Amino acid sequence: MAANIDKRPIGVFDSGLGGLTAMAALMRLLPGEDICYLGDTGRVPYGVRSRETIQKYARQDMQFLERQNIKAAVVACGTVSAVALEQLTAEFDIPVYGVIEPAVRAALSATKTGNIGILGTEATIASGAYERQLRTARPEVTLTSVACPLFVPLVENGRVSPGDVVIETIVSEYLAPIRQSGVDTLILGCTHYPLLEAVISRFLGPSVTLISSGAAAAALVVNELTDAGLLNGQNADGIHRYFVTDSVAGFERLASLFLQQDVSGEVEQVIVG
Ligand code: DGL
Repeated sequence: MAANIDKRPIGVFDSGLGGLTAMAALMRLLPGEDICYLGDTGRVPYGVRSRETIQKYARQDMQFLERQNIKAAVVACGTVSAVALEQLTAEFDIPVYGVIEPAVRAALSATKTGNIGILGTEATIASGAYERQLRTARPEVTLTSVACPLFVPLVENGRVSPGDVVIETIVSEYLAPIRQSGVDTLILGCTHYPLLEAVISRFLGPSVTLISSGAAAAALVVNELTDAGLLNGQNADGIHRYFVTDSVAGFERLASLFLQQDVSGEVEQVIVG
């Protein structure tokens, strides 16, 4: 029988820092795996751009990771998962995993009332991808979706703490229809949004379950890689490398917020596309 071991790294990418929420979960679940993270920080945000531009950027991100000899890719970006996952799956030879299906599964198993909210970027919400998958799996769900275009720039600037008047104001405006609709489960359909969990929870109250799309994706990827015999089987700690398309210093400072660990010296600036 084949050894079922693959020493190549796993690739993870996002438009910026948000995918680190998936990266953090992957590192916790698979401590022995080598992982390459690409944050396209020079071109973030993607969620306000056209489908064509997002698809072009996504292809270039994948081509970069392919050159790092990855064995599988995690599209740790709700926006790219919503508008480019099929294209990437068709164009690249390795398994490509998005965040939407895992988040949908997690939300459906969490909800008791079937009343679910979805937050995402403009492109994600306009694509209707979450709604389609939720309704296909459970036609009787009640859904309320809201695009939150100001969240990504605020998170990328570290404006995430409860008590920060800017983020509190924006959260109360964007989430008013969600609170009104009485959801019991809310999908944070953009991988940046878990950084806002404290502020969002405070606004909606503790009875609403928040689903992190990045963490849900990481959990599913672990199962998939295990089943496919693609894990590297080592006990030693994996090597983690971070690539960004804008300044290293800015990324290093904020990455510690997402990862709860220092990544100084592990980040490299690269050109993509
Ligand atoms: N983290 C990305 C997502 O999940 C952010 C998108 C953006 O760059 O606007 O959608």
